[in-house]
Amino acid sequence: MPSGALHRIVYMSTAVGVLRADELDRIYLRAKSANARAGITGLMLFYEGAFLQVIEGPAAGVMSLIERLRHDRRHAGLITLEAGPIEVRGFPDIPMHFVAARNLSAGEKQAFSDLRQAVSARSHTVGSPAPGADNGLWAFISSFNPLRMA
Ligand SMILES: Cc1cc2nc3c(=O)[nH]c(=O)nc-3n(C[C@H](O)[C@H](O)[C@H](O)COP(=O)(O)O)c2cc1C
Repeated sequence: MPSGALHRIVYMSTAVGVLRADELDRIYLRAKSANARAGITGLMLFYEGAFLQVIEGPAAGVMSLIERLRHDRRHAGLITLEAGPIEVRGFPDIPMHFVAARNLSAGEKQAFSDLRQAVSARSHTVGSPAPGADNGLWAFISSFNPLRMA
């Protein structure tokens, strides 16, 4: 994997139109192989038309990916919940850990909906703090790490 300073971005976005399962699979499979090449790891959740994605890796690679994501027309309304340098990866071994809606527990679905609501409420408040700052974002995210490393 490429070395250098590590960076992480967590964002939420909304799928444009209805994404079919095969379209989601295509996004995931391409992401997985491209990320493996770029030394990027992370998590992608999809529930009720919304994505939550964590991307972490070499700063330049993460920045270039977020630019591509901002221009990807399969989703819109991308809101950054967290962005900055990290010491260690939350998902060290997984180019993109994808958890589709059918694999989310009832509690996880509820937590996802709550987070989405908090994010959209605050994104309408001028000067509000980063949406992820105080709502247990990382506790939720790290619960999806098979290794359970926070
Ligand atoms: C929700 C979502 C998540 C994505 N995640 C990744 C990812 O983790 N890695 C990646 O390389 N591309 C990902 N993509 C695809 C990129 O947006 C982009 O299409 C891809 O990097 C190819 O970019 P290019 O066509 O400009 O070369 C994702 C797309 C969507 C809609």
